[in-house]
Amino acid sequence: MTTNTTFPLGDQLVRRIGFGAMQLAGPGVFGPHADLDACRAVLRRAIDLGVDHVDTAQFYGPDVVNELIRDTLHPYPEHLRLVTKVGARRDDEGGWIPSATPADLVDQVEQNLRSLDVERIDLVNLRRFETDAPHLDQAPLDDQLGALAELRDAGKIAAIGVSNVGADTVRRAVETVGIGEVQNAFGLLDRSDREVLDLAGAHGVAYVPFFPLGSAFTGGPAAIAADPTVRAVAAKHDVRATQVALAWVLAQGEHVLLIPGTSSVAHLEENLAVADVALDEEDLAALDAVEQRPVAGH
Ligand SMILES: NC(=O)c1ccc[n+]([C@@H]2O[C@H](COP(=O)([O-])OP(=O)(O)OC[C@H]3O[C@@H](n4cnc5c(N)ncnc54)[C@H](OP(=O)(O)O)[C@@H]3O)[C@@H](O)[C@H]2O)c1
Repeated sequence: MTTNTTFPLGDQLVRRIGFGAMQLAGPGVFGPHADLDACRAVLRRAIDLGVDHVDTAQFYGPDVVNELIRDTLHPYPEHLRLVTKVGARRDDEGGWIPSATPADLVDQVEQNLRSLDVERIDLVNLRRFETDAPHLDQAPLDDQLGALAELRDAGKIAAIGVSNVGADTVRRAVETVGIGEVQNAFGLLDRSDREVLDLAGAHGVAYVPFFPLGSAFTGGPAAIAADPTVRAVAAKHDVRATQVALAWVLAQGEHVLLIPGTSSVAHLEENLAVADVALDEEDLAALDAVEQRPVAGH
């Protein structure tokens, strides 16, 4: 069982349950959400409930989610850490395109600084395509990390992270520039990234999984809710199946942070309440045996 409630993200401690802002864009993470008032309410409630870590990206919308965060929360609470990611852009139909030369990355950090209206971003993840689209051209890793390290030296970002990467990239990034986060897909139904989760922990680096409930694109939360083992543990603790799945993720290491995404205040409240779900050894063993159903990335 894990017991700590905070972990360093770069050189800043954050609570282990934060918020992922991707669901605050429209369908396919493209264009504005249909209910902007609901999105603003989710952001305000998150801050009211003590969320100090929000994960976003310029390419959510694009622009839409960063601007919503700024318009709703600026001036930001002093304790709030904003994390973004660079390395991709959107085409006119919402397609995801790598955009990750050093010059692209610098440009995207500048865009994030402007749209979030901050002088420094707390952590910038280099979003690679190693795990979800390895056939796409990758710019040389050292060049990308070097560009981000220069921005860190210039005071424009506080810490660097890596996303959608394999173990070799994590090792190289730790050795060369030092990182504060690894952000890969991981959850109860897709535990294939276990090696990288453990590697991050061995280096004292936060592991911040996306799709902790399974991908919204492929019905992950519904698959969790339908699993008989998850349902049995949920009934035992009188909590939701999604809360069991998130509590299981949290129990995988003290360096594991949650950023579940939602555009619903009720779901946000459930997700933050996972801090109080105490799974015992018997629960964890049962959940470890749940059949994996890996989902495709977006
Ligand atoms: N680095 C990357 O490549 C990458 C990729 C994907 C995501 N991310 C980041 O990771 C964050 C987390 O990923 P994610 O998969 O959790 O978020 P997500 O992709 O934003 O989707 C989470 C899904 O779970 C649902 N959900 C959330 N809480 C729920 C609850 N309590 N009960 C039932 N359904 C619930 C949401 O629907 P409702 O809105 O209806 O609650 C949504 O369909 C994202 O927001 C984003 O910031 C990064």
